[in-house]
Order: sequence, then structure tokens, then C-alpha cells
Amino acid sequence: MFFCVIIFKNMMKFSSQRGTRDILPVDMPYWHGLEAVCRRLFRLYNYHEIKTPIFESTELFARSIGESSDIVSKEMYTFKDKGDRSITLRPEATAPVVRAAMQNNLIENDKVTKLYYIGPMFRYERPQAGRYRQFYQAGVEVFGSKDPALDAEIILLSEQIMNRLGLKDLEVNLNSVGCSECRPEYLKNLKDFFTSNIKSMCEDCNNRLEVNTLRILDCKNKQCQEYINNASIIEDYLCENCRNQLEQVKVYLDKFSIKYKTVNRLVRGLDYYTGTTFEIVSGKLGAQNAVCGGGRYDNLVAEFGGKPTPAVGFAIGMDRVVEILKQNTEHGKQNTDHRRKMLYVVTLGDKGREKGIDLLFQIRKRGYEADIDYVGKSLKSQMKDADRQNVKYVLIVGEDEVKSGKAILKNLATSEQKEISFDDVLTLIL
Ligand code: HAM
Repeated sequence: MFFCVIIFKNMMKFSSQRGTRDILPVDMPYWHGLEAVCRRLFRLYNYHEIKTPIFESTELFARSIGESSDIVSKEMYTFKDKGDRSITLRPEATAPVVRAAMQNNLIENDKVTKLYYIGPMFRYERPQAGRYRQFYQAGVEVFGSKDPALDAEIILLSEQIMNRLGLKDLEVNLNSVGCSECRPEYLKNLKDFFTSNIKSMCEDCNNRLEVNTLRILDCKNKQCQEYINNASIIEDYLCENCRNQLEQVKVYLDKFSIKYKTVNRLVRGLDYYTGTTFEIVSGKLGAQNAVCGGGRYDNLVAEFGGKPTPAVGFAIGMDRVVEILKQNTEHGKQNTDHRRKMLYVVTLGDKGREKGIDLLFQIRKRGYEADIDYVGKSLKSQMKDADRQNVKYVLIVGEDEVKSGKAILKNLATSEQKEISFDDVLTLIL
């Protein structure tokens, strides 16, 4: 029995949890590239980075995203900590950033506060392509202005990020979900309409009728489409303020030559939105095609006990963007010189190795990425390893090279090679 336990223990293998993935070194260039573009453009628009904790009080999300939303009612990773506090792994970052901005007095009168974040979020969703339980977002939140130019600015910013990454086949969907003045009337109309048809609609719609009528518009079920298509649209119910806001956002988008589609049925899965909402969808993905989503949430700061402060933001789904970047590479759209600016020192014989290690340390000291074999590979295997690691340069140092004071430098991108003196190695590659 004891023996069996030992064998079983030795055989046990662990796997990542359902809906989570390891992001492996081979994919890191995509993630780093995406992150670099996001950071560069966030800075270009004067946003400042903030990092908030991975977990917050459950109440923070329940109060902001909405008790009846799918996220809060079904998808949160919630647990009690040892102090019996209800804790939730953040399913999104808007509510945490609002909390952090308020707590740290970053929101001031007559000042616009622009923040950005990059990091993991957690939702207990049914995993499928492009939908994970741990996923990554890069987003921005701006506090302190109702100016529709700001709504347009963030749409332009997200568009510019996608453009810079070379993403094509994207569509900006725009809508307004109204405000506390005009939305209740629309919701009442919607509820009356669906109530008279609900028996013919799916189970999800039946459940949503009472708790979150607006989300019925999001149903993809065929049997419900006919009713959804015949339901009234929010545009007919918008108050003057919401209508003007939306119109002015459109004027700016036209000015910036941003193509968009007004989608009256665009409802977002989070309850805090007021007025402008938008999503960017990609034609390169399957059912989970939204690569970015955002909008205004002018009431949230006040709901958290602060002074009424208008706010707007968005979040890019990084996992989905990386998926498209990988597709683009497979279709040969990648830069031809994709080799990493790095040098691999290949050595032969004891003297070659001694000199090789000496050169390696000097090269690194000068700030150039470099590495060497540490398992005693043959010359051929070292060359293979350098190629597999996708490095740009190989420096070959053998006994003969040590005698002559010259090494062989090979550029793996062009296959050119030349003899260079040890002193010239640094000047040539740097
Ligand atoms: P969201 O639409 O829930 O908005 O998420 C934004 C983006 O995150 C989505 O468009 C999608 O690309 C990605 N995403 C969401 N869930 C998953 C998932 N399970 N797996 C992979 N990717 C996912 C928000 O989170 C708001 N906080 C955005 C915002 C910021 N609104 C105002 N400010």
C-alpha cells in the first residue's frame, strides 16, 4: 500500500487550470511587441501607468459592474480570506482604478487625470477560443471631463494602437446606452415588449427579463433574433444631452477619419456605463471577436462616494490581439529580418572556450545580448542551437582564432561571415 502511494506520487503530473494558459517564450515577442506599442501610444496621449492589486473586496465589483450582470452573478472568482473578508480576483480594472484614483487623491477639481494599466483579469467563463479564465487587458481610464473630444480621443487611441500593430479588418461599433435620465424609459418599453413575447424566447432571455432586460439585446440565439430585431432602439429614447454627446463624438470621429458603425443594439456587459459606448471587433476571430471595449461611466465616482466626476475609458483584450498578430505572421506579413539582435558565442577547444567566455562577458558588459553553450555541445550543435534561438550573430572562437587574434563573425540573417579582430567585435555589432 505504502509502495503504491509512492509510485502514484511519482507519477502525478500537474496541469494548468481550465481556461488558463502558459504563455511560452516562443510567443513572448508578440506580447512584448503589443505591450511596447500600447505603452508608447499611451504615453503619446499623456496617460500615466497605474498598477492596482489583483484582488479587491467583492463589494467593489458588485456595486460597479452590477449584481445582475453575468460577470458578478456567475463569473467572479470570489473567496473568503483568513480574516473572513469576501475577496474577488479582479474581473476587470475600471472599478479598481476608480477606487485607487479616489483613495490616492488623484482626482482633483478642474484637472483631467489620465491613467493606464496592463495586467491580468479573471472571469469564470466557459473557455473557448479567445475566451479564457485568466486573460490580459491593456486599458485607459480618464477622469474629470465630459468633453466628447475625449470620447473620440480614446477611440482614436485604441484605433491607432491596432493600426500600429498592423491589424486589418477591424470595425468600430458605436452606441450610447443613455443615462439615468433617459434609460429607465427605454428599459420600461423594452421590458413591456419582451414580456409579451418571452414565452417564445430562450431560457437565458427569460432569466434576463427581470434582472437585466438590456442584456436580452445581446442574445445570439436564433429563435430570439426576430423579437430582438423588432424591439425599439435606444436612439429613439436618448435625452438631449446623450443625443448631443453621441453626435459630437461622431463629428470628431469623422474629422479624424475613423470609420465607425452605429450599432443601436450594442450593450456592454457592465452596468456602470452612461452615454457613449464602443467596441472594436475583428473579422479575423471567431465568435469572441471583440478586441476592445469601453465607454463613459459618469456616475461611478459618485457611486463610490466621491464628488460627481465624469469618466471614460477602454480595455484592449491582449490575448485576442496576440492571436491576430500570430495569424499575420503565419501569413508572411512579418518583417523579413526578424532575428533577435543577439550574439551567440560558439567555441572550439579549451583555449577557444576560455577566450570565448572572456569575450561573452565583455560583450554583455557593453550592453549587447549574448549567450554561450553550457552543456559541451559540438560545433555543429552549437551552430544549430544559435539558429534555433533565432539570434542574429554567431561569433566563432577556436584554437586557431586565439592564435591569430581574430574570430569569425557570422550574420545568420544574411549568412555573410568575416574575420574580425577580437577588439573589433564590439565596434562591429554595436
Ligand atoms: P470588457 O468588454 O468586459 O470591458 O473587456 C474588454 C476586452 O477584454 C474585450 O473586448 C475582450 O477583448 C477582452 N476580454 C474580456 N473577457 C475576456 C476573456 N474571458 N478572455 C479573453 N479576453 C477577454 C471591460 O473590461 C471594461 N473594464 C473596459 C472599460 C474600461 N470600460 C471603461 N473603461
